[in-house]
Amino acid sequence: MSESAIVSQEELQNQFTYMDAVAELIRGRHLRAYTHTFGCQQNEADTERIRGMLHEMGYEMTEEVSEADFILYNTCAVREHAEDRAFGNIGALSHLKKQRPDVIIALCGCMAQQEKNVEKIKKSYPQVKLLFGTHALWRFPSLLYRALTEKKRIFDIGGADDIAEGLPVLRGHGPKAWLSIMYGCNNFCTYCIVPYVRGRERSRRPEEIEKELRELVAAGYKEITLLGQNVNSYGKDLGLDVDFAGLLRRLNAVPGDFWLRFMTSHPKDASPRLFDAMADCEKVAKQLHLPFQSGSDEILRRMNRRYTAESYRALIADARQKMPGITLSSDIIVGFPGETEADFEQTLALVQDIQFDLLFTFLYSPRSGTPAAAYEDPATPQQKQAWFERLLQAQDAIVAQRQAAYQGKTMRLLVDGTAKGPDYPFTARTEGNLLVCVRGENIKIGDFIEAVIEKTSLRCLFAVKQ
Ligand code: 5AD
Ligand code: SF4
Repeated sequence: MSESAIVSQEELQNQFTYMDAVAELIRGRHLRAYTHTFGCQQNEADTERIRGMLHEMGYEMTEEVSEADFILYNTCAVREHAEDRAFGNIGALSHLKKQRPDVIIALCGCMAQQEKNVEKIKKSYPQVKLLFGTHALWRFPSLLYRALTEKKRIFDIGGADDIAEGLPVLRGHGPKAWLSIMYGCNNFCTYCIVPYVRGRERSRRPEEIEKELRELVAAGYKEITLLGQNVNSYGKDLGLDVDFAGLLRRLNAVPGDFWLRFMTSHPKDASPRLFDAMADCEKVAKQLHLPFQSGSDEILRRMNRRYTAESYRALIADARQKMPGITLSSDIIVGFPGETEADFEQTLALVQDIQFDLLFTFLYSPRSGTPAAAYEDPATPQQKQAWFERLLQAQDAIVAQRQAAYQGKTMRLLVDGTAKGPDYPFTARTEGNLLVCVRGENIKIGDFIEAVIEKTSLRCLFAVKQ
């Protein structure tokens, strides 16, 4: 990769100048900003950067959209449902804009990177004053400055596949933090819009990642999740002698008591070398999210996934052999175009064989511009729904069994929030990322504790602190 993929100091400095200019413009006005994020962790991490910039410019954050002076929706384009919800939310703001014409409504993220949505916003959502795509995120200060000072609407969906280092970040409360290690995707799975809206793979330099990790650990974060669309191809674009397994080993050497997680992995690139690194690194949580999408080789071929059900099984066997007790999760798409009952049965068989701890199951959603959107799709929605429900039922039975096996065990947990019920007032996570509700004396969010599992349910373990 060339250095040109990193936004130059000069261009960044220009944005910091705009941050000062906005701060000057709004000084003493006590303006408030509201953000809402749809979609994946990558989007959440992006929103944290925008909130960091907003904070730097003097905005206070609010949870109440009705009292905000600046409203931002960071959108997701992976499935139609997420798009519909974003449009619904923005539509509902038209009355607010009428009551308070000064409010600035902005939209960014994956939907904003697509021409068809941009046209729709231009035509039918006049309340949106500012729209910018994933590639323009680092230019947010100058875009906001223009939105505050110019009459016309601002649209910026241009930009190259850049990396901007050194932007401020405002993270959420609690002991968990996201750490992006790479952006974009080169895989072009035939159903997926991500490569079109997030551009080509580009990796952050290892020293930048290590620096950010050290800062996070020093700030008291206890669970840091390394983010990328396909972390296993980390470093391929850097031209350095570094890959994801090597990065894990480097980060594991950072002093401190914390867990490292990562997502998402692609089965075509996950390797024994990765599992060796995971097994060797005591800070790397023994947990793996490895989406397989379908158990049918024919469907996998047409999805352009480049592995087979058999090679997936072999990977999992290797991971389990090196890390007994590892927690496994996966993504599955039900109803890909051309999927038959026999294909679905193979997906179900894989689910039964592997016994995942957690599954994210999605009904296929056609995305215009992707190859699969043009494939023939003879299965009826009712048929797909029936498959979907069979899968959920099968998985519930598996989870019930797996959860019950934890009964009576003592486990190390990270307390990460408060729970709704009075009996178990805190939430926590196991190293394997299972959700636990906890009770006991002297529990503080951000603590690692030892706890005994008292009972289990489908969604949660219940534990008492030792
Ligand atoms: N329809 C349904 N699910 C999708 N995913 C990605 N694209 C689509 C689509 N068009 C799912 C995949 C991926 C997860 C993040 O979203 O399972 O792993
Ligand atoms: Fe989409 Fe496939 Fe890339 Fe994941 S690996 S983001 S599913 S194209």
